[in-house]
This record gives sequence, structure tokens and C-alpha cells, in this order.
Amino acid sequence: MAKQADRFALYQQAVQEPEHEVAFLDRIFRRQFARPATILREDFCGAFSVCCHWVRGRPNRQAIGVDLDPKALAWGKQHNLAKLPIAAQERITLLKRDVRRVAGTKADIVAAQNFSFFTFHTRRELCSYFRAAYRNLGPQGMLALDIMGGYETFKEDLRETRRLRNFRYQWEQARFDPISHRGTFNIHFLFPDGSEIPKAFTYHWRLWTIPEIRELLAQAGFPRSDVYWEGTNQKTGKGNGVFRTRQKAPSDPAWIAYIIAIKK
Ligand SMILES: C[S@@+](CC[C@H](N)C(=O)[O-])C[C@H]1O[C@@H](n2cnc3c(N)ncnc32)[C@H](O)[C@@H]1O
Repeated sequence: MAKQADRFALYQQAVQEPEHEVAFLDRIFRRQFARPATILREDFCGAFSVCCHWVRGRPNRQAIGVDLDPKALAWGKQHNLAKLPIAAQERITLLKRDVRRVAGTKADIVAAQNFSFFTFHTRRELCSYFRAAYRNLGPQGMLALDIMGGYETFKEDLRETRRLRNFRYQWEQARFDPISHRGTFNIHFLFPDGSEIPKAFTYHWRLWTIPEIRELLAQAGFPRSDVYWEGTNQKTGKGNGVFRTRQKAPSDPAWIAYIIAIKK
């Protein structure tokens, strides 16, 4: 089963919820600027499923996807782009480029999902990314980042497994170094016949904190940033997928939040 499986397809099934991302981004933008957003740039887009859902939503929407990995972009073209009507396909531009080196069309929203900016390990690198995002937004625009944290994210050798229809998705926090705040994280896929795709994806990330991010956003020119904290499902005690602005939050063992940086 592992030999026949496609790691990009499994990743998309297990990790991404582009319809929720698009609905969230659209709602926050409307609330901020009292108009709908038209142009979305998906940084670190991988197979650009958010771009595809964005353009599918309304006929005047455009999307720009940026990623360095030609394999992920090619997979997205074959499996995501090809499923869209031709008119919608033409409203997506793909750039195989470093997110810090993009120039051109200004977007209403720049979105960096699944903690991808953790790939930048120094303040200098991260600030240079935030400056690029600022430059690539129109006069009214927002940068949306998701971020994970909590004291459980500092644990080593921690594996969390989730069962999907034909496979299990496993997230491993392999290493964490408290001095540099850098960690190694792996995604493994496990199959009912006992076969596995170990380390289907590996990330070497710096675990940034919310205040560090907001300070760097301000340094890069964003006059304001808001934190959207996830509510709790009272029955399960887990996140309920509803994110609202908060000034203070409980010290949950593991949390996911959005930081929305506003350029006005
Ligand atoms: C964690 S994956 C996220 C994929 C997708 N955005 C998602 O939400 O699932 C990180 C992606 O960032 C890309 N990447 C890493 N560094 C990059 C850079 N400096 N510029 C552009 N893409 C980069 C990788 O190729 C990879 O596809």
C-alpha cells in the first residue's frame, strides 16, 4: 500500500482544509476593509489548494501561488488545477520562487499556512519575508499567518496519530532544542497492511512565539496585528475550529492561532 500511495495526495487529505481557510480569510478581510478581497497570494503554496478554492469561489477572484518545490507545484497542476474549469485555471498564476523574492501583482491577502514561515530561523530572514509580504500587498491588505505553540510543542519523541479512511496520519515531534528553539518534525503515513511511508515530509523549524512575530511584523511596517485564538469544544475539550480575536488566552498545552497583520 505504501508503494502505491502518493504522499502529496495523503498530505492534502490529512492536513489541509482549504474551504475553511478561504472562508476565514474572506470573512476577516471583509470585516477589516468593508469590501470583498479579490487577489489572494498563497505563499509556501505547495500544491496550492487554497489558490484553487479561492478562484472557484467567485468569478472575479485571482490567486498567485508561490513555492520553491517544483514537485509540489507539478503535483498541484496535475491534481488540483486540472479539476478547475479552464476560466478559473486562467485566474491562477504560479511562481517557483523564494517567497522573499516575489514582486509584481499586489494582493489583497497574503496567506502563509501550516506554520510555513517557521522555516526562517533568524530575525533577519523572517523580517525580510514580512517586508516582502508588506510590499506585495495593495494599499489595503492583510497578511495571514497560522502559528502553533504551547508547552507540548517543546516535547521530544512525541507522536500523535489520526485515523483517516485508508491510512493513518502521524505527526512526530522528533527533536526540540530550547537554546535555539529549533525543532525537527516529521509526517509519517501508516497503512492497514503494515507498510509505511516514514518521514514523508520533514520540517526543520524554529518555534517562534506570538510576541516575537508581532514585534517583527511591526518592524516590517505593519501598523497593527491581531491574534485570533481558537475556541474550545466543551464536550471534547479540544479546539472547535472557531477563531476570534483575543487579547489574552489560557496556557493550553498545544494550540493553533492566526496572526492577521493589517496594512492600511
Ligand atoms: C509546511 S509546507 C506547507 C504547504 C501548504 N502551504 C500547506 O498549507 O499545507 C511548506 C512549503 O513551503 C515551501 N517553502 C519552504 N521555503 C520556501 C521559500 N523560502 N520560498 C518558497 N517556498 C518555500 C516548501 O517547498 C513547502 O511546499
